[in-house]
Amino acid sequence: MRTRNLGGLEVSSIGVGCMGMSHAAGKPMDEREAINVIREAVDMGYTLFDTAKNYGFKEDPSHNEKLIGKALEGLRDKVKISTKCGVDFDYDVDAEVPPLLYDSSRKAIRTAVEGSLKRLNTDHIDIYFQARIDPKVEPEEVAETMSKLIKEGKILHWGTSEVGEEYLSRAHAVCPVTAVENSYNMLRREHEDIIPFLEANNKGWIAHGPMFKGLLTGTFHTGTHFSRDDWRGRLVTDENLDRYSSLLEYLSELGETKNATPSQLSLAWILYRKPYIVPIPGMRSSARLKENAAAPDITLSDVELARIEELISSVQHAK
Ligand SMILES: NC(=O)c1ccc[n+]([C@@H]2O[C@H](COP(=O)([O-])OP(=O)(O)OC[C@H]3O[C@@H](n4cnc5c(N)ncnc54)[C@H](OP(=O)(O)O)[C@@H]3O)[C@@H](O)[C@H]2O)c1
Repeated sequence: MRTRNLGGLEVSSIGVGCMGMSHAAGKPMDEREAINVIREAVDMGYTLFDTAKNYGFKEDPSHNEKLIGKALEGLRDKVKISTKCGVDFDYDVDAEVPPLLYDSSRKAIRTAVEGSLKRLNTDHIDIYFQARIDPKVEPEEVAETMSKLIKEGKILHWGTSEVGEEYLSRAHAVCPVTAVENSYNMLRREHEDIIPFLEANNKGWIAHGPMFKGLLTGTFHTGTHFSRDDWRGRLVTDENLDRYSSLLEYLSELGETKNATPSQLSLAWILYRKPYIVPIPGMRSSARLKENAAAPDITLSDVELARIEELISSVQHAK
């Protein structure tokens, strides 16, 4: 597997998004099966594993971190773990589609990091993200908390997720960030305005949701039913499949000429955008791991990139 420089942190060019193993994709995976997938990913050369303290479900809200802790036993020094703090789900309001509770206070981040270290069965987190901006807490205060955690060796790097330049630069001035974790794919490009900041400061970008929650994989068809606790159904809708049909058709045709799948092309497109972007597709099987590991070897010509751009611009972006 090729590697990339994520703001100073060397990781595999594609990372593993672990969320769907426990959360927001219907029922959690069978634990043994999920552990095998994670361990197989390590064998294949994936070195970045993304999770969060809030990837779980009502009965076990941090299920995903525990899963990763178990799966990486004996393998910890081969990988980098990215986890997040600052939000929890309020399962008392709705067990399947819970609203978010924001808390980036010093106390909450401290409690969160101790919990994550324990669940992940490690003495350090490679990169720690504030999952969402907490409107009650200034970025400088969050950065000070992160700075202390770095000095204590509990986290090695930090960043913020779903963030814009103004907030990020204020935080960065207090304690330098390493990367952002913002959504990014062919159809989600609103975060591109962070690029000048990242380039001026040599920072990285973990691109979450690189498949537009599965829509760009070309494996979903009109009429697919998602359970209420499967949040992919918010984007993989009949309306979106119809709206983006010309792009999806092109990806499928292009894939045939290159012996590649639309999923691989979607990842390759992100890798072509900037050398410091690392997509983290959600993957729950060995087949997905193998397929996506080959994406960095795919070449796209200027003509093909221009055609993709044209098709993207020709459709109105989904909100
Ligand atoms: N920072 C944040 O705010 C934030 C928010 C959301 C997610 N994330 C992170 O980003 C990761 C990825 O996001 P996501 O899971 O929401 O969306 P995603 O990666 O855009 O889409 C996941 C979907 O793509 C499918 N898929 C992946 N590779 C495929 C392939 N080669 N062929 C066919 N289907 C394929 C998955 O299938 P299977 O599940 O069947 O394998 C799943 O249905 C998460 O796991 C999480 O770590 C971060």
